[in-house]
Amino acid sequence: MYCGEHVRLRALEMSDLDNIMKHWNTYEMRRFLGSTLPMSERAEKEWLEKATTQDARKDGSIVLAIEDKKTQEFLGTASLFDISSHSRRAEFGIAIHDPEKMSKGYGTDATRLTLWIGFHQLGLNSIYLYTLSFNERAQRAYEKAGFKRGGIFRKSMFAEGDFHDMIIMDILRDEFFEKYPPGTPIAKG
Ligand SMILES: CC(C)(COP(=O)(O)OP(=O)(O)OC[C@H]1O[C@@H](n2cnc3c(N)ncnc32)[C@H](O)[C@@H]1OP(=O)(O)O)[C@@H](O)C(=O)NCCC(=O)NCCS
Repeated sequence: MYCGEHVRLRALEMSDLDNIMKHWNTYEMRRFLGSTLPMSERAEKEWLEKATTQDARKDGSIVLAIEDKKTQEFLGTASLFDISSHSRRAEFGIAIHDPEKMSKGYGTDATRLTLWIGFHQLGLNSIYLYTLSFNERAQRAYEKAGFKRGGIFRKSMFAEGDFHDMIIMDILRDEFFEKYPPGTPIAKG
């Protein structure tokens, strides 16, 4: 549906369950999401059932599959959730599942495309995220996509035996539009 330099964002399907289960319980990936407790296929299926039926405008959440533009390989998911139609604001989340596929530019590209959807299609004014302070790779990817560091929730996430700061980052519509103004084509297909 939405093509960037390296990835395509498309609707998530129930048939992605096997793709998700391949790496979802990989400690090296999940430690950056703040919970490494193993998830069963059944729990994941229930989550997928919800994610594949929700409507961004009605339910305030959209989860898209990220795939390699050339090979169509499933790479992970990107989402906008807690969408507030009153404040036109949403939270952003992303995961590239296979550690072997990280740091190859997929995440930055998928982030940019999701911002494009949020600002150009959903009419949002602000998109924000929280990330663990030790997740420097994510912060670098988010900055490349246009997010700015807004502040810190001190010691607000317990992980790996310690309390960690959560970094808050956000981007406003006007900032995104400086680079991608209305009418900017995003490759579709
Ligand atoms: C965070 C994530 C989406 C980023 O996507 P990605 O495809 O790996 O990132 P990109 O390749 O687009 O960009 C990563 C950048 O960080 C850099 N980087 C990699 N490891 C780094 C580290 N330890 N410290 C600082 N920078 C680092 C890369 O070199 C690259 O920057 P560059 O292009 O200037 O060289 C992905 O790594 C991921 O899903 N990780 C696991 C789950 C996760 O962290 N989700 C986000 C939770 S907030």
